[in-house]
Amino acid sequence: MTTQAHTPKFCVNLHHVSLKVANLREAYDRYCLLLGLHGELSDDMALLRCMHEDYCVILQPCGPNDKASLDYVAYELASGIRLAEAQSTLAARGANAEIIDVPINSKGLLLNDPDGNRVVLIERRIPADRRPPIMIPTSTLKGYHPRRLGHMNYLTADVPRISNWYKDVLGFRITDWIGEGAVWMHIDPRHHVLAFLDKGYSHVHHMAFDLVDWGEMRLALDHIAKHGRWVTWGPLRHGMAQNLATYWRMYEEDIFVELCTDMQILDEDHQPTAHPDNAYSSNTWGILPPRSYFRFDPVSIEKERESAYSYLEVA
Ligand SMILES: [Fe+2]
Repeated sequence: MTTQAHTPKFCVNLHHVSLKVANLREAYDRYCLLLGLHGELSDDMALLRCMHEDYCVILQPCGPNDKASLDYVAYELASGIRLAEAQSTLAARGANAEIIDVPINSKGLLLNDPDGNRVVLIERRIPADRRPPIMIPTSTLKGYHPRRLGHMNYLTADVPRISNWYKDVLGFRITDWIGEGAVWMHIDPRHHVLAFLDKGYSHVHHMAFDLVDWGEMRLALDHIAKHGRWVTWGPLRHGMAQNLATYWRMYEEDIFVELCTDMQILDEDHQPTAHPDNAYSSNTWGILPPRSYFRFDPVSIEKERESAYSYLEVA
């Protein structure tokens, strides 16, 4: 890998994901219950947060003929970059972005990446209360909740094309590769905020929520298990990125949830590393995902559900 030239920062923070849901009330209750999120529900929208942030998940009803799914992912622009300036910068980089409304009483820039995934950019929002979230008293925050929305992961048929777009248009930086078919990217000191895996087709794979530590992972998994969710892969230790991770389906919106902690923090002069495409890079503890892990069709999900609580037959 060659040294990557650092361009001025453009995107600096993953702000929120927006999901289209079949039943707003049901989805609001489900995200609050399973993930420990809290927020506000209105007739046409729910805003959810992990702790005291703006919000990290938006839920909106999908049309009667639409499939419940991820709508878009929103990133904050670097401090001082206004939307108009960002729109001009994007145009100069060959990307058209339209201005849209985003909560709360604000605007964003909407554009599509090369796979058609929707991306929204908003101006940096510095919280009025600068205390670390753990220092802020609350009467509403639950005992079990993630620390923050952490990263996104997509399947694609063309990793170089889409990773180059995020690098050249949005200023993301490549962190590491596994082989030639998977790349992880960052915009802050955390190992990755975004990743792409070549599985021959385009689909969002997971949204990851950061937990404090391994103890909270146990709490979270006991919690979702009590509510009928099975674990598709994990708990595990990724070799590349070093994070502890567990993946389970939010099948209602056609996406996995990753519960994540202990991710690698990058050195200032981190240079991309090509890790070998082997099991150790994927999980140092040695168990690889089932084939259904990369599939979202109903048959695969149902087989996964059935196998989750059955004995594995070994020849
Ligand atoms: Fe992940």
